[in-house]
Amino acid sequence: MKLRVLKKALKVALANARQELAERIYISTGIDFTRPVQVYVIITERCTARCAMCHYWRIKNPQNELPAEVWIKALKELKEFAPGYHIQFTGGEPLLKEDILDILRWCGENGVSAGIVSNGELINEKLAAELVSAGLNNVNISIDSPVPEIHDELRGKPGIFRRAVEGIGYLRREAERQGHKLTISVKPTLHAKNVADMPKLVADAVEWGANVVNIQPLNINTEETNQMWINDIELLRNTVETLIAMKSEGYPIANSERQMRMWIKHFKREPIQRRTHCRVGMRLLAFRPDGSAHFCSPLRKIYGDIGTIKDQSIREIWQGEVARRIRKISVNCKLNCTASCYAERTLREKISFFFKMFLSSKPSVASTRHK
Ligand SMILES: C[S@@+](CC[C@H](N)C(=O)[O-])C[C@H]1O[C@@H](n2cnc3c(N)ncnc32)[C@H](O)[C@@H]1O
Ligand code: SF4
Ligand code: SF4
Repeated sequence: MKLRVLKKALKVALANARQELAERIYISTGIDFTRPVQVYVIITERCTARCAMCHYWRIKNPQNELPAEVWIKALKELKEFAPGYHIQFTGGEPLLKEDILDILRWCGENGVSAGIVSNGELINEKLAAELVSAGLNNVNISIDSPVPEIHDELRGKPGIFRRAVEGIGYLRREAERQGHKLTISVKPTLHAKNVADMPKLVADAVEWGANVVNIQPLNINTEETNQMWINDIELLRNTVETLIAMKSEGYPIANSERQMRMWIKHFKREPIQRRTHCRVGMRLLAFRPDGSAHFCSPLRKIYGDIGTIKDQSIREIWQGEVARRIRKISVNCKLNCTASCYAERTLREKISFFFKMFLSSKPSVASTRHK
């Protein structure tokens, strides 16, 4: 089992090294050897929760969903076209999709590195055992506050905090029982209602059994998000400094120091200065439930989709005329967006992130002063 994980990690590392070169060539010459190395699938728009900061549960007519066989056919093509990609299933709540386990099992059996992003509500003992035996690389659970009442209120669902934390415990125990190396990542969204408690959330996440915490700043998405915006920049600065100190003490915070400092600019609504070109259109492929493909939501909203797996192969989508045109635009995109942050990691940050996501085991952090 350990050898299988190492082989998968090696494949992902090789694909990323190849991709780094392809991106440099594309930027300097326009010759396109790029391939998708990160794949995001919004597998369903349906959800179990009603989060204040999210629009999914408000969608009146969720998009039609494709069955597992259609996804698996596309993932096979992807494997041939871009070996070593990592795929993340999200939503909506991905665990609501009735045949998600068939897709995840296919990934596990075919050496494809796969993960899910979930609110954790549906992860009971049985599902945890199935997810682990499917061979998942990572499960990211969104928990926004160490205070149960605050998390439940933010998610519009009484009891969801307890169920998500229990879900992490089931996953951790199952991974140990099955001898499977699973990265469990707690994924909070940073905003005014949790900025002061974020260091405690990081410390608690480790106690619950997470081995990574990956924090994302709030984006304006719904009316409620205006009230959740962080206007107390001093408080944010203190939290950022505490988190940076915790990271150097060994807490498994996936965000780089540079990214964390960027949150201050984000909440001050200052322009995000990219040091280089945006990499998203050269490496990321995102899908919606009906199989339509895009690079990132802002570009999709302006230019539309780049294709669909319903009647195109992956190669036709990635190398098609529409994708090529939008890729060219994406590289020099001037939109003020933080989605490019991941793609903009320095080599050192990429290596550190890779170790956290693929090779780290449960951390032991001695300090309890953040509790
Ligand atoms: C849309 S959810 C889908 C997966 C799953 N339902 C969940 O909540 O984890 C994906 C991630 O986006 C986060 N999110 C939702 N609204 C957001 C916003 N306005 N700004 C930043 N992140 C947001 C969620 O907390 C979650 O971590
Ligand atoms: S659980 Fe996830 S998809 Fe559902 S409403 Fe909350 S953030 Fe949105
Ligand atoms: S900067 Fe943001 S909006 Fe522009 S292409 Fe990159 S990810 Fe998309």
